[in-house]
Amino acid sequence: MSIIADDNDFVAKKDDVKNPVTKPEVIKESDRAFENSIRPQTFDSYIGQSALLDTLKITIEASKKRGKTLDHLLFYGPPGLGKTTLAGVIGNEMGVAVKITSAPALERPRDIIGILMSLEEGQILFIDEIHRLNKVAEEILYPAMEDFYLDMTTGKSQTVKTLRVTLPKFTLIGATTKAGELSGPLRDRFGIIHRLQFYTYEELAKVIKRTADLLEVDIDNDACYAIARRSRGTPRIANRLIKRVSDYAIVKYDGKINADISNEALDLLHIDEFGLDSTDRNLLNLIIEKFDGGPVGLETIAAALGEDSRTLEDVCEPYLLQCGLIQRTPRGRKATPEAYRHLGYKSLNLEQQSLF
Ligand code: ADE
Repeated sequence: MSIIADDNDFVAKKDDVKNPVTKPEVIKESDRAFENSIRPQTFDSYIGQSALLDTLKITIEASKKRGKTLDHLLFYGPPGLGKTTLAGVIGNEMGVAVKITSAPALERPRDIIGILMSLEEGQILFIDEIHRLNKVAEEILYPAMEDFYLDMTTGKSQTVKTLRVTLPKFTLIGATTKAGELSGPLRDRFGIIHRLQFYTYEELAKVIKRTADLLEVDIDNDACYAIARRSRGTPRIANRLIKRVSDYAIVKYDGKINADISNEALDLLHIDEFGLDSTDRNLLNLIIEKFDGGPVGLETIAAALGEDSRTLEDVCEPYLLQCGLIQRTPRGRKATPEAYRHLGYKSLNLEQQSLF
């Protein structure tokens, strides 16, 4: 199986260099090479997302037995949970190539037409951030997904002609952090729609052990769990942390990693026991101190922190919600009693407590 990446694919955003270790949506070129080198290639080596994997195994076997192309698939959920990796695994299990691109790289009609026409029978087209596809690209995609053809127009005004081009049968895998922003007609054209889940500590510890073995790093089980607990339920972060901890263990010790060394190294990176980084803690402190625990609107929080509201919403919030540290209400975000406890504040006053 080969993964063919588009040139414009996943360019790191400049406002995210502050704390790249814990920012799964930011992928530096050096990280990409590392990630690609350790990506699992088969279902057997893929850890986690077991419910999805069970469905996929059946779907893939059925489509192979029928000699048919796989249904279009949509994966959604926070960044770093393995959407691209899964596309690669599916391609490998189907024995077909995966062409990877992202919606912002498909700005002009010719971008999407070009990539569709380059596909061969059975191949997979992976479009990341598919919620960012523009209307024109979406309309080109509808007949391509449904009936495998493209209508292309040539000429101008009175002499305009439509040329119907038949495409080979292909599978589209769309990935998004924001399924709610996908248009109804596009969403309806996917046969399987699945939300990727945050990883458990146990699953992350397995990912960490697997990566450590590939890197030939000596790590004990407690250390795998120590790193797992601070990885925000996200394998991409777990894999970055094991590298940083390994560097620390080589420089300060003999290279072998135990739980104490892991915790020391992660403290140095200002990643706390919940895996929160300084942006997360600043966000919680702001809600607690400046807005009396909330509710406060996301835009206000973003402006006060000097952060991008999209990043806060797509990256920070899902994990803070998952940990039960914030609540989303119609009037804005609120810090929970757990957030007060975690940040070492004395308990809430009685009036605040009665609100939970
Ligand atoms: N590395 C990143 N994600 C992984 C996964 N789900 N399984 C194994 N290794 C991984």
